[in-house]
Amino acid sequence: MIGNATSNGRVSITGIGSHAPEHVMTNDELAKIVDTSDEWIVERTGIRERRVAAPEEALSDVSLPAAKAALDQAGLNPSAVDLLIVATVTPDMLFPSTGAILADQLGAKDAAAYDLSAGCTGFVYALAQAHGMVASGLAEHALVVGGDVLSRIVDWEDRSTCVLFGDGAGAVVLERVPEGGFLGFELGADGSGGPQLYIPAGGSRTPASAESVAARQHYAKMNGREVFKFATRVLVDSAEKVLDECGVAVDEVDVYVPHQANVRIIDHARRKLGIPEERTVVNVDRFGNTSSGSIPLALGDAEADGRLGAGEMVLMTGMGAGLTWGSALIEWTANGKGGQ
Ligand code: ACO
Repeated sequence: MIGNATSNGRVSITGIGSHAPEHVMTNDELAKIVDTSDEWIVERTGIRERRVAAPEEALSDVSLPAAKAALDQAGLNPSAVDLLIVATVTPDMLFPSTGAILADQLGAKDAAAYDLSAGCTGFVYALAQAHGMVASGLAEHALVVGGDVLSRIVDWEDRSTCVLFGDGAGAVVLERVPEGGFLGFELGADGSGGPQLYIPAGGSRTPASAESVAARQHYAKMNGREVFKFATRVLVDSAEKVLDECGVAVDEVDVYVPHQANVRIIDHARRKLGIPEERTVVNVDRFGNTSSGSIPLALGDAEADGRLGAGEMVLMTGMGAGLTWGSALIEWTANGKGGQ
């Protein structure tokens, strides 16, 4: 799916917030759990540390501070939110949705609220969906949360995956604006690649059972090399397609926010695209791969560093389980109601 996003008026991000659990787990700490080393992890992934949720913290707990911060920045009361989407693969529970739980915690009583599952691309998919609803007039104030507590689904005995992931969430508010805002989206999925990154049990195909738990089938499995190849290809393809659709040249991109899975994948993509290092946001070293939390956490860092001024052209591209991918191109607008 590809489209120019400006035909029904302009919609933009008017508030942003992010949050990660307090506990920092370093590579050295991980090396006490599995047979790995700081040197191996840094060289292959660029990751130095990640955040890990406390036992009592679920996704809604990690997301709540991010959602509140985004609403504050937008100058919105939670009761004004009429759409709340939580992009995640680690909801508090299968149902009710974390969207509904979060809406209740916030006091967003008039919001349609639900979860969206598109792997690590979930946040970009949710942006496109919220954009469509706000642009069409179905919603006025949308809150989009991207977050994951991957520490609950990684196999802490599998060194090939557990070193890669972390926990965190980010949130943004979408509203109509007079100018600027989202220019276009490109989204895709290739289900034939599903077995490259999946959780075998716990769904309707293989319900959780004593056997499935004993076989560790409730943990994420990944074919790292295949996912690496897929990631380097789609990050470039998807970004080029959305830029082309919107008539924006790559050298007009001021801030590039790729999915934070691995610094080698990010470096490869930005070199192929021709985006300089100083325009690329990288925080995978501090957070690891937080799936749907990755892009909004990176946006939060870029904002804190003063990189998201009005008029900046921001390109986001995600990829992940599904296999899925997606890009969003936005001309950043000022924070606050109506982007002014
Ligand atoms: N510590 C030490 N050694 C390790 C570790 C570890 N944590 N993990 C694997 N190894 C070993 C392997 O056993 C292998 O040993 P061998 O040669 O004796 O068999 C060796 O290191 C090389 O393993 P490879 O898998 O070939 O290592 P590679 O260079 O491919 O790096 C990695 C692995 C980092 C997983 C890489 O393939 C990758 O980044 N893939 C993409 C992962 C990704 O982005 N996933 C998420 C995307 S979607 C989403 O976000 C959910």
